[in-house]
Amino acid sequence: MKHTITLIPGDGIGPEVTSAVVRIIEAAGVDVAWETHYAGAQALEKFGTTLPDDLLESIKRNTVALKGPITTPIGKGFTSVNVGLRKTLDLYANLRPVRALPNVPCRYPELDLVVVRENTEDLYSGIEHVVVPGVVESIKIITEKASTRIARFAFEYARREGRKKVTAVHKANIMKLSDGLFLDCFRNVAKDYPEIEADDKIVDNACMQLVMRPEQFDIMLLENLYGDIVSDLCAGLIGGLGLVPGANIGELGALFEAVHGSAPDIAGQGIANPTALLQSGILMLRHIGERAAAQKIESALLKVFVEGNVRTRDIGGQAKTTEFADAIIAAF
Ligand code: NAI
Repeated sequence: MKHTITLIPGDGIGPEVTSAVVRIIEAAGVDVAWETHYAGAQALEKFGTTLPDDLLESIKRNTVALKGPITTPIGKGFTSVNVGLRKTLDLYANLRPVRALPNVPCRYPELDLVVVRENTEDLYSGIEHVVVPGVVESIKIITEKASTRIARFAFEYARREGRKKVTAVHKANIMKLSDGLFLDCFRNVAKDYPEIEADDKIVDNACMQLVMRPEQFDIMLLENLYGDIVSDLCAGLIGGLGLVPGANIGELGALFEAVHGSAPDIAGQGIANPTALLQSGILMLRHIGERAAAQKIESALLKVFVEGNVRTRDIGGQAKTTEFADAIIAAF
């Protein structure tokens, strides 16, 4: 079956890692027509907007997209394209499986957990204003609707993937109303899944526990901002940002991307690790029903890591991005 998939190469190392992943997916025998679109600074230059209508229409039509990282200017300039895409397409669930890979030097070589992050509200609502000069207010929005649907997503995922426990992470001791609502919704939804253990932890303790005893977690469910921070912490536990995949999923479509950013410090050198985006590609292939190809790529990826001869610089090797992709294809 032929698939049409929207492809956003992105900025910095984005084009390097996306072209490696496209090559691997095609070599695995998946028949794809890629619709390439630009977003962010590149789109602003070409079309006068960071999120062109053509791109949004393409994702809506195809319902699936693979995306490289996009640079977001800090403090000034345009608002985050990543946040814009998630909001416009209502990609409410951010899924980040964090699983250690063989032979990667890391603190927790056995770790296998999943972070589920609410993607549409919280302090990411972007509602900020200057009250008086020198005083700024940022508004945190938490709704029953979004908290309930993300909790349901986490439990459904647990049921489908045979996971045993969902832990809600919050600060309801201080933010009694907002995080309190998030926690209440979680507890209500949990009642519908009696076979799955449901517990909760305050976010500061959860971070400490993650560093000391991360094996106690299975699925972690978090609001948007805590989810952003904690998922990077989890990436660090298994060897860094170059390895961890991510998916943004909504009712109408899904967008697959790496957790890492555009890595301006190494862009253009051909040394970026494409593993994170490749793992996102594997999630994408499963999502579109290409399970055999996903398995083929995953087995090849594991084989290359077990052999340990071809690895990129971020995990202690010398291989270029393209050499790593060649090794995966050779391991099919
Ligand atoms: P970053 O993730 O781009 O880089 C952090 C560090 O990790 C750097 O030292 C980088 O070289 C390294 N790194 C990241 N990915 C790597 C890979 N695949 N292989 C090898 N090393 C890798 O984070 P940073 O520097 O905070 O952000 C840079 C830009 O990316 C910012 O404009 C930020 O807004 C944007 N960004 C975009 C995201 C997205 O599009 N989803 C996510 C995170 C950041």
